[in-house]
Amino acid sequence: MSAEDVLILDAVSKAYGGRASMLEKMLGHRPKSLQAVREVSFTIRKGEVMGLVGESGCGKSTIARIAAGLMAPTGGAIGRAGDTRQQMIFQDPFSSLNPRWRVHDIVAEPIRTHKLRAKKDVSARVGELLRQVGLSEADGAKFPQAFSGGQRQRISIARALAGEPDFLILDEPTSALDVSVQAQILDLLRDLQARLHLTSLFITHNLPVVRLMADRIGVVYLGELVELAPTDAIFEHPRHPYTRLLIDAAPDLDAEDRSLHPIPGELPDPSDPPSGCVFRTRCPFATDLCAKERPELRNTGAGKVRCHYDLDLAETEMAA
Ligand SMILES: Nc1ncnc2c1ncn2[C@@H]1O[C@H](COP(=O)(O)OP(=O)(O)OP(=O)(O)O)[C@@H](O)[C@H]1O
Ligand SMILES: [Mg+2]
Repeated sequence: MSAEDVLILDAVSKAYGGRASMLEKMLGHRPKSLQAVREVSFTIRKGEVMGLVGESGCGKSTIARIAAGLMAPTGGAIGRAGDTRQQMIFQDPFSSLNPRWRVHDIVAEPIRTHKLRAKKDVSARVGELLRQVGLSEADGAKFPQAFSGGQRQRISIARALAGEPDFLILDEPTSALDVSVQAQILDLLRDLQARLHLTSLFITHNLPVVRLMADRIGVVYLGELVELAPTDAIFEHPRHPYTRLLIDAAPDLDAEDRSLHPIPGELPDPSDPPSGCVFRTRCPFATDLCAKERPELRNTGAGKVRCHYDLDLAETEMAA
């Protein structure tokens, strides 16, 4: 691990289930296990925003929880800079705030837990944080129920910043919000990003959103990282057919339709994935080789791609 690395995922996998309960053992049942994440590798460097994008169910939240250390992987290894202080922001602003606590106490909690301020200075710091996210100091006296979804997400952001993180994990932080509110929250996050030089992992199913937020993008399909490259390279020279299809299908940032499954074709059952390349059942270029062999994640000029073929799909419109 170099001094610039904040987090390294090395061939990280996660299988859910598969372990039989006592009753199932007695009945001779073996529960099916589900490979939610398969050999995902990437490194997040100090100061960068790494984005992950993919359809619903592809394993994004699983990767987020593993990256945050909230869950152990079932395979692979994780490297973490020793002194990293991290915070997480979740998708659902309605369930992620304790309804019985006043906003002031919600935001103060990380400050108190990590003893980041003297007791007498905590309130002033909470006021400062609330103003930083576009709320007022007086909002601290209210309960979360008194706020809209967008305002609650501002409270979540204030709480995360209160912990003075050097690494922030954001799992679909704006997916539950209306388009106009989403734009405001993304602006706020970009502003904070620039001012506080935060390192972050930004996760979304929305390609325009990740384009706006991330320096590098990892594209995830059915638990696998199929492409990883700097944001410009992803959009200008997509190498994986799935990336190309996502680009063609992407709505405008301000479109109301933000589908979780934007491209044509059925998403395979994750408990019974296709042989070989996981994307082959939806890929217009698939051959026999794709059914037989799983492609390696290999280096391209700018990034990495998991595809047998050396495609440059810059000029290829693929959406029907
Ligand atoms: N605790 C669990 N037990 C069993 N299966 C799970 C569990 N959590 C997630 N899964 C399954 O693992 C796969 C990946 O789920 P995950 O929540 O990581 O996807 P996601 O990309 O975050 O989806 P979304 O965009 O809907 O949030 C899915 O098939 C899901 O059903
Ligand atoms: Mg999720």
